[in-house]
Amino acid sequence: MMKTSFFSFRGLGLLAAATAVAAITLVAQTTPQTTTPMKIGFIGSGNIGGAIGELMARAGHEVFFSSRNPDSLKPLVARVGARARAGTPKEAIAFADVVFLGVPYSSMPQIGQDYAAALKGKIVLDAGNPNPRRDGAIAEGAVAKGAGIATQGHLPGARIVRAFNQLNNKVFLSGAHRAGEKIAVPLGGDDKEALAVASRLVTDAGFDPVIVGSLAESKSFDSSAPIFLKTLTARELRAALKLPAQ
Ligand SMILES: NC(=O)c1ccc[n+]([C@@H]2O[C@H](COP(=O)([O-])OP(=O)(O)OC[C@H]3O[C@@H](n4cnc5c(N)ncnc54)[C@H](OP(=O)(O)O)[C@@H]3O)[C@@H](O)[C@H]2O)c1
Repeated sequence: MMKTSFFSFRGLGLLAAATAVAAITLVAQTTPQTTTPMKIGFIGSGNIGGAIGELMARAGHEVFFSSRNPDSLKPLVARVGARARAGTPKEAIAFADVVFLGVPYSSMPQIGQDYAAALKGKIVLDAGNPNPRRDGAIAEGAVAKGAGIATQGHLPGARIVRAFNQLNNKVFLSGAHRAGEKIAVPLGGDDKEALAVASRLVTDAGFDPVIVGSLAESKSFDSSAPIFLKTLTARELRAALKLPAQ
């Protein structure tokens, strides 16, 4: 009797695992594939880095997650699949055409010290949100001047675009490529080519890019802004920020 129960539990476990693999395969098969795969390196592979990396890999891009302890990323790499790998932040930067930055703002001085030289000239999608309660004094100045300008100060010479900071990682994962009008992702930056690349990656990930303006103007979708965490279509976002309709 005991033996039968054990085997039926095991059978159910195998069935659940097979169903999960089938679901992942189906998502991969139904996600539109990019015609121009890019190499995207991640500094910060936690909630937001992991989610955006997963969406980029689903779209056909190569992703390199990083951690100061790369072994800790094995489950993430296994989940995301064959287009994902992991290593140190330095290796991720060397690999990348585009770097995604998703680290707590309190670590920005250290990030600047360790990686500013390697990031010079690279397109950097910055999703960090300074939060004085969580990140301490460093965040107060960043909130006042705007996160984009503050990040540029830590990474001089990097081609910063504010991106993927305005919504929660779970909203990104569940809302990508939704039917009907897509969820908007606001972007801000001073480098036209970097903004064009960021727009393409936002589209590939399954959202509608809305270029709001310069790095200074990206303050309008910082965590202190009224639209922060609001899930909006491009039309709604443009109206909320009083941008010309398209
Ligand atoms: N969570 C969200 O839904 C969300 C959405 C939009 C924006 N954001 C913003 O994105 C940032 C990250 O949030 P999160 O929730 O993803 O954080 P998280 O899950 O705690 O992940 C933080 C990542 O930063 C890395 N990191 C920390 N200090 C580092 C350093 N000195 N050098 C290299 N890597 C370092 C960590 O790597 P190690 O493995 O090396 O520790 C980890 O991978 C925050 O500013 C947050 O406000 C979050």
